Amino acid sequence: MVSNSERCTRFLICPVCEAQLAQVGATLKCPQAHSFDIAREGYVNLLLSSGKRPKIVGDTKEMLRARRDFLARGFYGPLSDALNERIHNHLAGDVSSACIADVGCGEGYYIGRLKRHLDSRPGFDHLCYFGLDVSKEAARLAAKRYQDICFIVASVNRKLLFSGGSVRVLTNVFAPRNVVEFDRVLAQDGVLLIVIPNPRHLASLRSRLDLLSIEPDKRDKVIEQFAGPFRLAGEHTVEREMGLEGDALLALVQMTPNYWHISSEALDGVKDMGPVQTEASFTILEFRR
Ligand SMILES: C[S@@+](CC[C@H](N)C(=O)[O-])C[C@H]1O[C@@H](n2cnc3c(N)ncnc32)[C@H](O)[C@@H]1O
Ligand SMILES: [Zn+2]
Repeated sequence: MVSNSERCTRFLICPVCEAQLAQVGATLKCPQAHSFDIAREGYVNLLLSSGKRPKIVGDTKEMLRARRDFLARGFYGPLSDALNERIHNHLAGDVSSACIADVGCGEGYYIGRLKRHLDSRPGFDHLCYFGLDVSKEAARLAAKRYQDICFIVASVNRKLLFSGGSVRVLTNVFAPRNVVEFDRVLAQDGVLLIVIPNPRHLASLRSRLDLLSIEPDKRDKVIEQFAGPFRLAGEHTVEREMGLEGDALLALVQMTPNYWHISSEALDGVKDMGPVQTEASFTILEFRR
């Protein structure tokens, strides 16, 4: 894993027996000697095999490459900036050995930018950063680029492999959620930031292409779901206009679950659509205890 990982692995628990993990050479081990090798690229796979091979294991290589290509163009930079500013404000004052986890981190864009943002401010140098994703390809791509962040392969549908109450900041950006586990791992003074797309996200593009729609009551459902252990402490909208065409447009379509649904003819048409003006529209839901 990464240079600071020996210090940071203490936040992780063994997927077999749930005891604390520690780094021994290129392996993470628990006291019962369950051990997990650190891959050459620096991530660690903590996903236990469920016997039969699952059909879909998170985002594919092609989706992840499309995501990296699209995000590198900066269109979602304002969302990342808004997250960074909220997290910076939350941690200011007390950052002693805090653990930050991005659950469903993809190729690492948001956690990577967060670390760069906090590293550029004084007093944020003792933090441990984790990215968790069920896709091994995501962890591989992320670990290659962001070498001082710990990336783990694990599923949000199972035990999140952090010890109870250890996570000060948990981010979840367009990814699956688990209310029971988010509650278990979040510290008493922690913050949970969930990002969802708004119904008007890509609306004008959706009127021209047969893309998956966004549930109109998604925001209300998420709030209702998390209202038990948490309270909604803030809500922030991030919106911008985007002028897209060619490869950028293709990457945008391919990086989302539309990848699984759109016909190959429609996909061929995307690149030749010409310039399209559309809107990005997101909500950051900020939950606290
Ligand atoms: C739409 S992508 C968002 C990725 C990243 N947050 C971003 O915005 O760039 C959803 C991510 O969730 C991951 N994912 C899907 N099912 C998951 C699960 N059960 N546990 C953890 N991650 C999962 C996918 O592999 C994918 O990387
Ligand atoms: Zn164990």
